[in-house]
Amino acid sequence: MSDQRKTVAESRSSEESEDRLTSIAHADWERLRQMVSVCTACPLSLTRKQTVFGVGDEQADWLFIGEGPGAREDELGEPFVGQAGKLLDNMLQAISLSRDQDVYITNIVKCRPPDNRNPKDTEAGQCRPYLLRQITMIQPRLIVALGKVAAQNLLDTDASIASLRGRLHEFSGIPLIVTYHPAYLLRSLADKTKAWEDLCFARETMRNLQAAHPS
Ligand code: URA
Ligand code: SF4
Repeated sequence: MSDQRKTVAESRSSEESEDRLTSIAHADWERLRQMVSVCTACPLSLTRKQTVFGVGDEQADWLFIGEGPGAREDELGEPFVGQAGKLLDNMLQAISLSRDQDVYITNIVKCRPPDNRNPKDTEAGQCRPYLLRQITMIQPRLIVALGKVAAQNLLDTDASIASLRGRLHEFSGIPLIVTYHPAYLLRSLADKTKAWEDLCFARETMRNLQAAHPS
């Protein structure tokens, strides 16, 4: 390929990705859902059964963000419906929440990473515009990052969960709290107490946010 042709091809591809970003940034819920359902922007599209967009109240105060769909989610098209999901439902219930009321649940990547490996940074990067659009439309008062992958991705850090939990962070102006992933808690009962503390902290933070700006 001559240098000139390469430049033309490269600029075409960067125009295409700019078009993609512009479309995502302007999409309404229906369009965004449709775009995700046919997305091939990263290699996870090759191995998924279906995309897992997100579920819940599109005007929720609470936004819970996990890592990516597992086997069960890939089959059913809904986040957190396997074992970890049952624990998440219990965690929500413990602070008087449920997945369809005032709560929205989604993931960093919308397609299942094969063998439940962590999503790669490149995959999370390609998927991020969808998450950003979801956040812009929901305008949650508080984001809860579930586990290391979500926390590290959203906060752009390599820090451990242990060091990130217990304090208030921010994601593009929105307060964010970090806690353990429910799948991890299923394996590590010792940290369940800490997760409970995190939930209480989140509930308290939400009360303060709601009191400061009643809707
Ligand atoms: N784990 C996640 O992080 N997300 C899901 O949707 C299910 C399991
Ligand atoms: Fe597209 Fe996200 Fe699925 Fe990758 S993970 S194919 S970016 S929807």
